[in-house]
Amino acid sequence: MWIMPEFVIQGGNRLSGDIAVSGGKNAVLPIMAASVMAGSPCILHNAPDLVDVRVMSEILRSLGATVERVNQGRSLYIDPTALSSWVVDDTLMRQVRSSIFLIGPLVAKMGKATVSYPGGCDIGQRPIDQHLKGLSALGVVFEEAHGNIMAETGRLQGADIHLDIPSVGATENIMMCAAMADGMTVIRNAAKEPEIVDLQTFLNSMGARIRGAGTDVIRVEGVEALRGCEHAVMPDRIEVGTLMVGAAITTGDVYIKNAVAEHVQAVASKLREVGVTVSVPGKGIRVTGSRRLRPTDIKTLPYPGFPTDMQPQMMALLSIAEGTSVITETIFESRFKQAEELGRMGARIRTEGRTAIIKGVPRLSGARVVSSDLRSGASLVLAGLAADGQTIVSGVESIDRGYERLEHKLAALGAKIVRQG
Ligand code: EPZ
Repeated sequence: MWIMPEFVIQGGNRLSGDIAVSGGKNAVLPIMAASVMAGSPCILHNAPDLVDVRVMSEILRSLGATVERVNQGRSLYIDPTALSSWVVDDTLMRQVRSSIFLIGPLVAKMGKATVSYPGGCDIGQRPIDQHLKGLSALGVVFEEAHGNIMAETGRLQGADIHLDIPSVGATENIMMCAAMADGMTVIRNAAKEPEIVDLQTFLNSMGARIRGAGTDVIRVEGVEALRGCEHAVMPDRIEVGTLMVGAAITTGDVYIKNAVAEHVQAVASKLREVGVTVSVPGKGIRVTGSRRLRPTDIKTLPYPGFPTDMQPQMMALLSIAEGTSVITETIFESRFKQAEELGRMGARIRTEGRTAIIKGVPRLSGARVVSSDLRSGASLVLAGLAADGQTIVSGVESIDRGYERLEHKLAALGAKIVRQG
């Protein structure tokens, strides 16, 4: 009988020491999609070895590309020159719903793309109307049948596109498709996340002409062809934030060597508000926890607001603050799955729709809890580090989607955590 992997955590140890985070999951995935447009091979350095990256690699292979780990496994070699298909495998598509941003690059390269409708996931519906709106403006025609989306174009034509919401994936999808359209494309109300800046850097290394990523207006001047290039993927800012909370919740003292302070300003600001010391010693970030944590209120917003991907981790920290905190989740409609599990550890959290009210308790106690999605799982691990006694987190495969060797990184900082099964 196959035993599902679990993390077994003995709480009470302070995290301390130096650590480096892996390359960004939400940076490398769109960059892998963009690589199909190249006329020669690409090498992506600092590419994290995550479940989502492995599935995306399988998708690219199924389209005819060569994808291999090189450079002692730290880099990904992608050769898209033998690309022969534009139909994304249905089962693979369902495993990485964010692969919807393969439509833009495939249509730009092959003139067409067929993907299955990305199902919702544990945190919400995940509609794609902004993707379809932007790509249609560029001249992509869509047909839907049997749960599949067929996209096709005769000639891609630049357009002036105003997004209704600053969708990260839609901004990326449109940027990639516009890179090879005729003429100028302007994307207004664009998402401003750092991963979009990383994608712009990659595309411009391929010969694209894009500027404005990181602001809400991105301008793309289409070019005839794109070439392969080398690119170093940016550090994972959500892994940085997760380890920052790990230091705070264990009253530890952690230095994250390759953190980009600018990418985690909102998290640093909230940690300082609750009494944690966050310093930026030149490079990297240092976080020193404090015995007493003050409550605070958090509202998730598009970048540079407080990131939704850090909301579950902060909920774990606020569970042991001295007072009542309120979290408002404005991005996804069901991203409080961790609340009930934290409750099994003694946390006092009441959720009403998109609002969670957290009444801090002096201590959490270890329990058997279940991770339902990537970031709620991370929050349960953080709670386990601080709780009295043993915590067993099952559903670890959801954590492996976005964290590379998380248990090894935490153990290296002094945590008592092992993977079992
Ligand atoms: C990206 O998802 C990230 N994933 C998510 O990270 C992250 O939570 C999210 O951006 C927000 O920052 C990747 O980059 C692979 P959105 P994405 O389009 O692109 C609505 C993690 O934990 N929306 O910015 O799917 C949508 O329902 C993951 O690492 C539409 O209404 O996010 C949501 O409410 C989870 N129509 C909001 O916008 C659309 O066409 C933000 O979604 C698209 C989105």
